[in-house]
Amino acid sequence: MSIDLSVTLCGVHLPNPTILASGILGLTHEVMVRVAEAGAGAVTTKSISLAPRDGYPNPVVLDWGPGLINAVGLSNPGVEVMVEEIRAAKERLAPLGVRLIASIFADTIYDFGPTARYVSAAGPDLIEVNISCPNLDDDYLQMFAADPYVAGQVTRRVKGNTDRPVLVKLSPNVTDIVRVAEAVVEAGADGITAVNSLGPGLILDIETGRPILAHGTGGVSGPPLRPIAVRCVRDIYRAVDVPVVGMGGVTSGRDAAEMVLVGATAVGIGSAIAYQGMKVFGEVCRELESYMERHGFERLERFRGRGG
Ligand SMILES: Cc1cc2nc3c(=O)[nH]c(=O)nc-3n(C[C@H](O)[C@H](O)[C@H](O)COP(=O)(O)O)c2cc1C
Repeated sequence: MSIDLSVTLCGVHLPNPTILASGILGLTHEVMVRVAEAGAGAVTTKSISLAPRDGYPNPVVLDWGPGLINAVGLSNPGVEVMVEEIRAAKERLAPLGVRLIASIFADTIYDFGPTARYVSAAGPDLIEVNISCPNLDDDYLQMFAADPYVAGQVTRRVKGNTDRPVLVKLSPNVTDIVRVAEAVVEAGADGITAVNSLGPGLILDIETGRPILAHGTGGVSGPPLRPIAVRCVRDIYRAVDVPVVGMGGVTSGRDAAEMVLVGATAVGIGSAIAYQGMKVFGEVCRELESYMERHGFERLERFRGRGG
């Protein structure tokens, strides 16, 4: 049986459904190309802001056994540097057929407009809008994804400033993620990425009684997040008519199949790289193929959304 892992995400062809999640290794074109060579179908940049940001002091990430906790603080060199990285990455990814997703964020609703415009000029295949990190907007003092109305406003601002398909990345830290999904789709989102990290969480050094992360609290990711992410993807898939990129704790072909069963078109992988290295992309694809072979599925569409 010949198995075809390729997918179409918001009109963009991916050779396979695995995507490098934002924030993990997506800062330079060299590293993004290495991830593509390791087998990813698309790579996402670290979230990009208009101005450079230092982020929080070290330690910013902790492997606490079952998963990761991080408070990186969205450090990035800003749009001016990142558009050059995107251009360089695009050139080298094209022969591999691997796609590039540019993740953007801003502190204010207004700033999402120029950030989207600037980044889009570098020609990413898709834009991902990170509204699911704690933000510094004085008007809201909470992440944009916490409020369906605000999430819709951000989406409109981005859509008005780009000709690229737009994925909006949602947070599991809300009472009703479906309402937020509906609001961003109503505002023009072409797809949804679900989910960002969970929390914030807190891990102490019990000898000192102090948090281990310098920032104190941080987002929880990796396998402990997976059952929550799977439920979010299922609920969003059932409620809206746009593709969903499922992520949160995916480490194997089994986990990727589960995401597809609840409706994911593609599957993001982030924390697993810390445990398995870049080879995780190739491994997930091979394991997914053997699952499909066992079940007689030649394409992912054959079982997408059939579970849950
Ligand atoms: C160290 C680290 C940094 C991250 N930085 C970003 C970021 O810049 N933008 C973003 O949208 N998500 C960021 N995330 C969230 C991931 O993209 C992903 O949504 C989350 O970790 C769940 O997937 P995983 O369990 O496969 O890691 C970050 C996650 C980690 C662990």
